[in-house]
Amino acid sequence: MTKLLTKHIHESGCETLNFYVAHGGYSALKKAFKMKPEEVMEEVKKASLRGRGGAGFPAGIKWSFVPKDSDKPKYLVVNADESEPGTFKDRLILEKMAHYLLEGIIISSYAVGIHHCYIYVRGEFWEPVKALQKALEEAYSRGYFGKNILGSGFDLECTIHRGAGAYICGEETGLLESLEGKPGRPRNKPPFPALIGAFGCPTVVNNVETIAYVPSIIELGAEKYLQMGPHQNNGGVKMYCISGHVKKPGVYELPMNTTLRQLIYDHAGGILGDRELKMVIPGGSSTPILMPDQIDVMMDFDELKKLGTFLGSAGTMIVAEGTDIVELAAVIAKFYAHESCGQCTPCREGTDWIYQLVLKIHAGEGTKADIDRILDICNNMKGQTICVLSDALADPMKSIVTKFRHEFEARVVDAA
Ligand SMILES: Cc1cc2nc3c(=O)[nH]c(=O)nc-3n(C[C@H](O)[C@H](O)[C@H](O)COP(=O)(O)O)c2cc1C
Repeated sequence: MTKLLTKHIHESGCETLNFYVAHGGYSALKKAFKMKPEEVMEEVKKASLRGRGGAGFPAGIKWSFVPKDSDKPKYLVVNADESEPGTFKDRLILEKMAHYLLEGIIISSYAVGIHHCYIYVRGEFWEPVKALQKALEEAYSRGYFGKNILGSGFDLECTIHRGAGAYICGEETGLLESLEGKPGRPRNKPPFPALIGAFGCPTVVNNVETIAYVPSIIELGAEKYLQMGPHQNNGGVKMYCISGHVKKPGVYELPMNTTLRQLIYDHAGGILGDRELKMVIPGGSSTPILMPDQIDVMMDFDELKKLGTFLGSAGTMIVAEGTDIVELAAVIAKFYAHESCGQCTPCREGTDWIYQLVLKIHAGEGTKADIDRILDICNNMKGQTICVLSDALADPMKSIVTKFRHEFEARVVDAA
């Protein structure tokens, strides 16, 4: 059995509370309420549940940074901004499996001593937010939210907050600024949200998928969950998004020892038109590319790191032979230039300079010096800014230009 969240995905009515409860839903919550909050946190720590929003930080450890005895309220903020190109798993959870998320919210809040949760939803998510709203209303109507949940004495309110459609509001502190009604400009860290987060109070920020796995961990127990994956630091299963030049794009819930080759060929049906593979963007557009001879890597946080890239939000994009890499680079650069919030100069200027240079090369008007200039700008953008949106263009762009330099050189005016 490798499916937890998606095991009923194709059954009609799977998004409803009745269906969820009939298939064992909210029983993990009852189990959690019989445990002490610190025991719940310990179980999640043992399960090595690593954040699914991009950085892969272990959720249980993040929770333990929240001060126990704060006189301020504490908040859980669920990051449902999902704007990383290539990523569409959280949307599926909101539309079809919102009760996994809601049950996860209650258990996580109980573990950390939180009594108010905000779910920050990407502005463009019209359908997902409708489904989420409906699920939350159902859950409130049956006493899963509000005062004295299931007679446990535990109170929890949950508020859905809609963003206005900005990639930067997925960055956790940009998100918190936006939640507070301000422009979504990331904050300097430290202090981290665990100490000073929403409204100046201790806050846990977790991705939708991260929280949605919490009920399964409590239900199965950490040990069983871990055994579903390859090893201690990458336990369990996760949701992989695969798109681009594959025959069966979609979301696949798989153990974390699945290789990229298996994901492409066994699950996503292989390359569209049976063309040759040209390159892979493994974890969303912010991640450095992999070449066809690197696809035997396990799709987990640590193995991808060894190849100089990362799992990110697991938004795997497949690029087949015949694709114009310079044009692809322009599409990626345009996104980051548009989404930079503008508060840090290396990001505000660098993302647009790269975009303009790639466009120039694409138009056949660039020079070899422009190719080196792109790499130089990438080096000067990395690690120089408040958040890593800047790195999110610099890292993949550097890998694309380095590995496909010949395609850039073939377009320049001073080509040999
Ligand atoms: C530019 C940028 C955009 C991000 N977008 C998202 C997003 O859409 N969803 C998300 O969960 N995390 C996003 N993140 C990561 C968050 O800052 C944060 O690490 C995450 O929400 C923490 O949850 P997790 O530990 O469960 O992964 C983004 C980070 C950056 C730098």
